[in-house]
Amino acid sequence: MTLWATRMGAAPADEMMAFTASLHFDRRLAASDIEGSIAHVHGLEKAGIVTPEESAELVEALRRTGDELAESVFEFQPGDEDIHTAIERRVRELAGDVGAKLHSGRSRNDQVATALRLYAREQLTLIAGLALELQATLLRRAKEAGPSYMPGYTHLQRAQPVLLAHYLLAHGWALTRDVDRLFATLGRLNVSPLGAGALAGSSLPLDPDEVASTLAMPARFENSLDAVSDRDFVAEALFDIALIGVHLSRVGEEVALFSTEEFAFFRLDDAWATGSSMLPQKKNPDVAELARGKAGRLIGDLTGFLATLKGLPLAYNRDLQEDKEPFFDAVDQVSLALVAVEGLLGTVSFDVQRMQEAADSPNLVAVTLAEWLVARGVPFRHAHGIVAALVRESLERKVPLSELLEAHPSFGEDALELLEPGSGLARYTTAGGAGPEAVARQMERFESQLLIDRERLASWTS
Ligand code: ARG
Repeated sequence: MTLWATRMGAAPADEMMAFTASLHFDRRLAASDIEGSIAHVHGLEKAGIVTPEESAELVEALRRTGDELAESVFEFQPGDEDIHTAIERRVRELAGDVGAKLHSGRSRNDQVATALRLYAREQLTLIAGLALELQATLLRRAKEAGPSYMPGYTHLQRAQPVLLAHYLLAHGWALTRDVDRLFATLGRLNVSPLGAGALAGSSLPLDPDEVASTLAMPARFENSLDAVSDRDFVAEALFDIALIGVHLSRVGEEVALFSTEEFAFFRLDDAWATGSSMLPQKKNPDVAELARGKAGRLIGDLTGFLATLKGLPLAYNRDLQEDKEPFFDAVDQVSLALVAVEGLLGTVSFDVQRMQEAADSPNLVAVTLAEWLVARGVPFRHAHGIVAALVRESLERKVPLSELLEAHPSFGEDALELLEPGSGLARYTTAGGAGPEAVARQMERFESQLLIDRERLASWTS
């Protein structure tokens, strides 16, 4: 029997229950629901609605129900519509009439909003931790890369040489912003909706501020209508996760590209590559490809849920139950992806010789040659034209650029050192640039930001 059966003249249709029940996916909110319910019981006790003895009995029944669920010995009944009603039903079985007091001054509307916030708080903290681990791996690989360099690309055309460490840290900084966004979302979601009731609060002397502090939430809702209908935190979390997915997707694309025979900059570790069922020679970058592919799904979780929210009147509507599956899916997939990409990048090996050879192509020092002239007083546009003409001539006449430079009145022999392998790179000294000195400073800043973010994370887990 459902909790609301007494209102109806007939038993619910099986097909109606099949369509509306959410138990099969919202059971993962069990621990969060119990936590919210225990805080509510303390509130009922403070308000004098239950005695201290009754309160202890309710908490005991809730804890036992929580244990049964955690140990998978909880017996679900056909009338259990969702995890919230299943828990309340069990508490009534365990605590009898006292159990029947649990839902005083509360609705499933504020109850589910509370449970989902608590669950999101825990999950976003875990995701931030996984992102930080991936950042630590990128930092380790950047340190190991030392002076190795590679071509940097624009439009997928070789552009300028960059340190391999610079390339790796570029992906690391994107994750720094992801982690920062997760902390900002955590800050905004840490507001208790408990006490908003169905939509209007309660005539019982409950204290939502007190309940918020029991839940370690620094604030309570300001408006009960808003409290039960607000799922901004889910949408925000889905955006944060989708953008992490986009970042991992870009890493995946590059790993797939750079491990082709055509590039051959990266070699995948055997434990992180897959074989082909037909082609014996194949070693496939499936992890990289799935990291790329999952982004589509994560974006879908976000956009689908935004469409669910659009146009909903205040306050609670059952549409809001559709918040859970996209959110759970996004949490699961991004967690798997962060771990997998960490494994992939932690074990990939770099063919430094090949990357450096590609970066040593004389054309990649073109802008450095132009800037060499600028430093000697030549206006940049003129310098650009001179170098462009030299590059064209070198290609058309198949004459090495060095010969043309040596013979050129604006350059001469002095400029030849610019063509030495890696010499152009050392000249990128400006802050945030791709040369060794700048990257050393960048690496320090990255490392100290990582420490700061680890401390921020610790403040969410304690
Ligand atoms: N399972 C429901 C949800 O996830 C719980 C809230 C139901 N509230 C209601 N008024 N029917 O949203």
